[in-house]
Amino acid sequence: MKILVTGAAGFIGSHVVARLLKDGHEVTGVDSFDLYYARGQKEKNLLPLMLHPQFKFIEDNLSTMALVKVQKGTEAIVHLAGQPGVRGSWGSSFHRYVTNNLQVTQKLLEEFKGSKLKRFVYASSSSVYGDRGEVLSEDMRLEPKSPYGVTKLAAEHLCQLYHVEHKMPTVALRFFSVYGPGQRPDMAFHRFCQSLLREAAISIYGDGKQIRDYTYVDDVVDVVAAALGADVAGQVVNVGGGSPATLLEAIAVLEEVSGKPCARTFLERQKGDVFSTRADTAKLERLFGFKPKVSLKEGLAREWEWMKRFVESEDEERAIKANVQPITE
Ligand code: UGA
Repeated sequence: MKILVTGAAGFIGSHVVARLLKDGHEVTGVDSFDLYYARGQKEKNLLPLMLHPQFKFIEDNLSTMALVKVQKGTEAIVHLAGQPGVRGSWGSSFHRYVTNNLQVTQKLLEEFKGSKLKRFVYASSSSVYGDRGEVLSEDMRLEPKSPYGVTKLAAEHLCQLYHVEHKMPTVALRFFSVYGPGQRPDMAFHRFCQSLLREAAISIYGDGKQIRDYTYVDDVVDVVAAALGADVAGQVVNVGGGSPATLLEAIAVLEEVSGKPCARTFLERQKGDVFSTRADTAKLERLFGFKPKVSLKEGLAREWEWMKRFVESEDEERAIKANVQPITE
């Protein structure tokens, strides 16, 4: 299939592109290298993909670009681009969430309606649920607790509307706290690994008892790849990793896999942070016959190994820029 992947240079996007190319698809990736986090990390994500003959990359901003550039022959869209960050979505930055999460989704739906798309996969989020404090199932009342969650939910509703009124083959996948190699630098595990490597205390927002249903990125990629072929038009599906843990439990696992005990600093709970996300994955199993494969321990071990190399390469680059030799022992 000829597939458009938005947010192709991002954490999940680059993993998805790699998988789709491996499966023999022809992929066009779009990414604006939004300054939310360093361009360098996204370039590193893209590097192993750039020489693939079936991959074309376009650096552009979906909110302003002419979509005609990517329309011809496109058979499926995996829409992963968006403005991430639960805790940063308050205040004056909200307009970025409206533009990048809501308006861009509407623009894609509008401009591709009536085309021969076979699938439109929308990356939704567990943040649409809010603080329900129980197992979260797709038919539950949705009460997002952050402005970020509000925009992700609004865009999910748009996908549903375009499915009903324009027969667009949309599917919304609600991702639950995705982690693994390449994770975004604002996310908890990335920050915790950095702290361990720099021998600094890790910062915990609140009491650390908040629960997340951590989902390893390869499991997410498997579901995205399956969503392109499965009979799931109009569906909303939880993609949870089946590894719910409190933050303190996850930190203990990280200490175990890294062999590095760490100090903890407790900071104020952040607005918009929900207490618990636990996915009901019955629908995921029913529609995709899928069960997550990677445990939290295995997944964290893989992220830790990636982080060690990543921090090393960052240090080398910094040393080169400062025109000094990196210290090696
Ligand atoms: C994550 C992603 O950032 C969202 O894009 C995604 O939509 C969402 O998961 C989701 O799955 O719904 P979040 O749960 O906030 O959001 O993920 P993390 O940034 O990994 O934070 C997990 C927990 O660790 C939060 O309670 C956060 O407050 C805490 N945290 C984070 C810390 O205690 N310290 C830190 O330095 C960073």
